[in-house]
Amino acid sequence: MTTHNIGIIMNGVTGRMGTNQHLIRSIKAIREQGGVTLPSGDILMPDPILVGRQEHKVRALAEKHGISRWSTDLDACLANDSDTIYFDSQTTAHRAASIKKAIAAGKHIYCEKPTADSLAESLELARLAREAGVKNGVVQDKLFLPGLIKLKRLVDSGFFGRILSVRMEFGYWVFEGDWQPGQRPSWNYRKEDGGGIIVDMFAHWRYVLDNLFGEVKSVSCLGVTHIPERVDEQGKPYEATADDAAYATFELEGGIIVQANSSWAVRVNRDDLLTIQVDGTEGTAVAGLRDCKVQHRVNTPKPVWNPDIPNPFKFLEQWQEVPDNQIFDNGFKVQWELFLKHVATDSPFPWDLLEGAKGTQMAELGLQSWSERRWIDVPELKL
Ligand SMILES: NC(=O)c1ccc[n+]([C@@H]2O[C@H](COP(=O)([O-])OP(=O)(O)OC[C@H]3O[C@@H](n4cnc5c(N)ncnc54)[C@H](O)[C@@H]3O)[C@@H](O)[C@H]2O)c1
Repeated sequence: MTTHNIGIIMNGVTGRMGTNQHLIRSIKAIREQGGVTLPSGDILMPDPILVGRQEHKVRALAEKHGISRWSTDLDACLANDSDTIYFDSQTTAHRAASIKKAIAAGKHIYCEKPTADSLAESLELARLAREAGVKNGVVQDKLFLPGLIKLKRLVDSGFFGRILSVRMEFGYWVFEGDWQPGQRPSWNYRKEDGGGIIVDMFAHWRYVLDNLFGEVKSVSCLGVTHIPERVDEQGKPYEATADDAAYATFELEGGIIVQANSSWAVRVNRDDLLTIQVDGTEGTAVAGLRDCKVQHRVNTPKPVWNPDIPNPFKFLEQWQEVPDNQIFDNGFKVQWELFLKHVATDSPFPWDLLEGAKGTQMAELGLQSWSERRWIDVPELKL
């Protein structure tokens, strides 16, 4: 058994996602568990170098988490041949330029979604990576959520019969920043900085729908900026120029209808921050981030509309939990492990930059549908 170090340049890790999900919950956790075991029995040990713009922040982060290597000079990091992977979780607007440099330096690429601000640029990244022959991957974390793994299990088992429709409710109240600090970075609410809920969430909805239920064929979307002014991290009021809610309908192959509400201006009166209800001829399921409950056709009650009497049904008690039946690890970590194995052994990794570009395409078409107030078909993406 040999341990192979694999050098990873991690850029944007001082941010929310970079620190929590990618550094602490993924790379640090993989190091603490003793690396990733390859089929040969050898061990792959991630060896990160943290990159950031501000020395004091990146140094403090590295020291806090026992990472010996850090830098403020991305070009110098890219010039080091022993670091073979470039990872990017910067704000979306800054991602493409850095990835292009990393591809030119021959690095394998792994990054957050959306991969770029525009479809043209997302496709360019996919094409450049293919031409350079570097391995590439994009975070598609929702696929690794326990609730969605259970949904996929139900789909694969034939539980639903013919799937008719899907209702997705995503969102929570993001504080405006005046009397309580906002819990998301302020760039999310400025279009000019790559913000907006359509750009952010449609990248997720595309891969969730494509992978669980069938390819998205068309979209109708109404965006809105419900909260026109917010207060930033420095306590300064700013105009919210980006959409903070989107009310969309998607049509999937096979005629499945999906309604998806995404909002940072909604208060939660449901089991989770994201719930997905799937209705089929044989049964229905409602998944949250971790849990999933079902009602089969034989357990379906028969309500009759009658507001003259108190409701005799306890609807929420008529569901059965889908059991875990497995141990669920952090989804970001699971996908990191698969990517590291892909780089080391060429094992399959379907979530590449072209799949990532599909997410950017979905966001662009959603924005177009909104501005033109019409349904838009989704063209097939080719490099
Ligand atoms: N997979 C998911 O579920 C998920 C969730 C939230 C965000 N994201 C994506 O992750 C990325 C980072 O989001 P976040 O919420 O961590 O943001 P954040 O603002 O907390 O972090 C952004 C990072 O980019 C760096 N950066 C580099 N250049 C910058 C510049 N000029 N201005 C501002 N920041 C700069 C910051 O230093 C920081 O490290 C975004 O692309 C976002 O879409 C993904």
